[in-house]
Amino acid sequence: MATFKILCTPGDGIGTEVIAEALKVLARVEKRFKHEFQFDEEIIGGAAIDKYGEALRSKTIAKAKASDAVLFGAVGGPKWDNPKAKVRPEDAILGMRKQLGLFANLRPVKIHPLMLADSTLRREVVEGTDMVVIRELTGGLYFGRPQKRWEDSRGRQAVDTLRYSEKEITRICHVGFKLAQQRRKKLTSVDKANVLRTGQLWREIATEVGKQYPDIQLDHLLVDAAAMNLIRKPTSFDVIVTENMFGDILTDEAAMLAGSMGMMPSASLGKRKKDGTGIGLYEPIHGSAPDIAGQGKANPLAMILSAAMMLRLSLGLEAEAACIEGAVDAVIVAGYRTPDIAGTGSSVVDTVKMGDLVAEAV
Ligand code: IPM
Ligand code: MG
Repeated sequence: MATFKILCTPGDGIGTEVIAEALKVLARVEKRFKHEFQFDEEIIGGAAIDKYGEALRSKTIAKAKASDAVLFGAVGGPKWDNPKAKVRPEDAILGMRKQLGLFANLRPVKIHPLMLADSTLRREVVEGTDMVVIRELTGGLYFGRPQKRWEDSRGRQAVDTLRYSEKEITRICHVGFKLAQQRRKKLTSVDKANVLRTGQLWREIATEVGKQYPDIQLDHLLVDAAAMNLIRKPTSFDVIVTENMFGDILTDEAAMLAGSMGMMPSASLGKRKKDGTGIGLYEPIHGSAPDIAGQGKANPLAMILSAAMMLRLSLGLEAEAACIEGAVDAVIVAGYRTPDIAGTGSSVVDTVKMGDLVAEAV
């Protein structure tokens, strides 16, 4: 019997609702496959600001570092939205990524054949979409310094810094090429090399790293063109690798190819062990959605699919991961949908019911 330590950080809004469903599903996996999952829970984000005055305590980081993986819900909400506040809920997710060294964010985008008709895009455009966006997660505009706002005789001003080092670009490019090797052998590196110095460095290094992967077809795309091609011809992409901010924007866009933000899981990974596993943070790409929080409308599938990624990438449990993915598929095939993905002829269910259905299918 294998034992694993998992830290849960539900956070705010629908984060707490969707994580409860993922835990339900994991409990079934635990039973069926005879593992022991030791869950611990920590308050983060806005809830932690209310309780402790900070979004992410060092105790939480210490617990995360001592775990095999972190299951992360979502953070933020109108209550903590003051942009001038010293502490912000988002500090929790940014701090977690940075302090755990999770530099590679994997966001798979796939549309279920039965959800094609309900896409906001035409069926013939989205049909066959199957890509993974790899977003650099611990550099770029999110973490570059200086980052500040001030006021002087010219009025209010603010600065953020877009900075990338050779080391940061090289390691994320390797992640991209290696993943492409396991897939359709095509990597698209997205930058803004026609304007930004960081973009030129990015392209240069991606090309250099590419020489070590002669089996991979490497293309470069400017981020504006990438945004267009994502909805013009999404099937032209296999693996995309890009910097932090571009990845944030492009993956919200890409989520709509999968039908809804509520369908898109993600894995944030750092250094890997010899067997390919290593600590990771698993979260849906959607936020805390305060507009629907507490109403049972949230789609827990992105969180449940994130738990599947956790089993595969941090715990090395491939069959168990595939079992969860199969269960989600079965529930979709049976016609069950949360409101965000409801279409013609489907049975609309709430968050808890959706979790129950997936758990039963495991
Ligand atoms: C995401 C989110 C976060 C980000 C926010 C909540 C800080 O949008 O994971 O995509 O910008 O990285
Ligand atoms: Mg985002």
